[in-house]
Amino acid sequence: MAQAQQVIQNNEFSGADIVLPMTEEVRARTQPVYQKLKSQISEMEWTYFAPLIDEINRLKKEKNAVILAHNYQTPEIFHGVADIVGDSLKLAKDALEVEADVIVLCGVHFMAETAKILNPAKTVLIPDPTAGCSLAESITAEGLRSLKAQYPGVPVVTYVNTTAEVKAETDICCTSGNAVEVIESLGVDRVIMAPDKYLAQNIAKQTGVEVITWDGRCEVHELFTPEQIQDFRDQNEGVVVIAHPECTPEVVEASDFAGSTAQMVDFVATKKPEKVFMVTECSMSDNVSAEHPDVEFVKPCTVCPHMKKINLSKIIHCLRDLSNEVTVAPEVAEKARASITRMLAVK
Ligand code: 13P
Ligand code: SF4
Repeated sequence: MAQAQQVIQNNEFSGADIVLPMTEEVRARTQPVYQKLKSQISEMEWTYFAPLIDEINRLKKEKNAVILAHNYQTPEIFHGVADIVGDSLKLAKDALEVEADVIVLCGVHFMAETAKILNPAKTVLIPDPTAGCSLAESITAEGLRSLKAQYPGVPVVTYVNTTAEVKAETDICCTSGNAVEVIESLGVDRVIMAPDKYLAQNIAKQTGVEVITWDGRCEVHELFTPEQIQDFRDQNEGVVVIAHPECTPEVVEASDFAGSTAQMVDFVATKKPEKVFMVTECSMSDNVSAEHPDVEFVKPCTVCPHMKKINLSKIIHCLRDLSNEVTVAPEVAEKARASITRMLAVK
């Protein structure tokens, strides 16, 4: 069994970076993953990653654990150790089907909380509990209560990028993958939709429903501009531009398609554009490119610093020690679960 050989650096959370030896057995066992990733990862990086991937796959069996990973996780996590990958909606839905005792959520904290809310009897771990989200941090339960007090009787839709306490104050959650259907399911002319003001504006345009929103923004997607998109179109003839709806309405307008991260993955898989620019977090293009070597990816992108707090060493630490368990107070979880369950009943 492989053991840590040396410790090279301390992480703020969850222990030290781990280095394990690359052996012929490890090389053989991880070969199929390398075949997929060799366009994205150098040989030197692979010598470091492969033994960690092998150790994680061993630990998953030992601990009866599964790894759920968001589309923004790095390729060695996404293709190397994840059992289930997807957007926030798929991760929430698939968390309900997990039979293993332990779920390791490779993503940000609200995603792990959602998995725990839906699976109160399971152990849910996050490799770095400080992996946050600028949207989730933009609103508190008290903030939402004060917004509700200004608009009595108006249904409250909150984005899943929120804490459990905020979800507990909500009528129904949504993700970027089902926001239109969730809003339309309410059959009203006006809703409160928090905290992402750009997602809310984009959905208002699509549905014609009036949206009262909050000043929350994704620190990654707010950085893209329509001018940048035009520049890349000018430099890359025929490029197809696909954006996440957390981008500004102007950026969505300047794009050919907008959708959740899973809808962006499906777009590339089904439309097979010759050249594509994914207006979103950097790992998306890397992960999708590994699956579609025939598609050319124009790769200006922005890193989500929260998603990037998760790495292979931290996954090993949390699996070995079953550490960084995510908990939600039962009374909060019960109310939050109702708003997520209502969403899942729509789409
Ligand atoms: P998706 O639900 O589209 O994966 O988005 C989650 C997220 O945090 C995007 O920034
Ligand atoms: Fe939050 Fe934006 Fe990072 Fe997604 S990309 S986790 S919305 S900060």
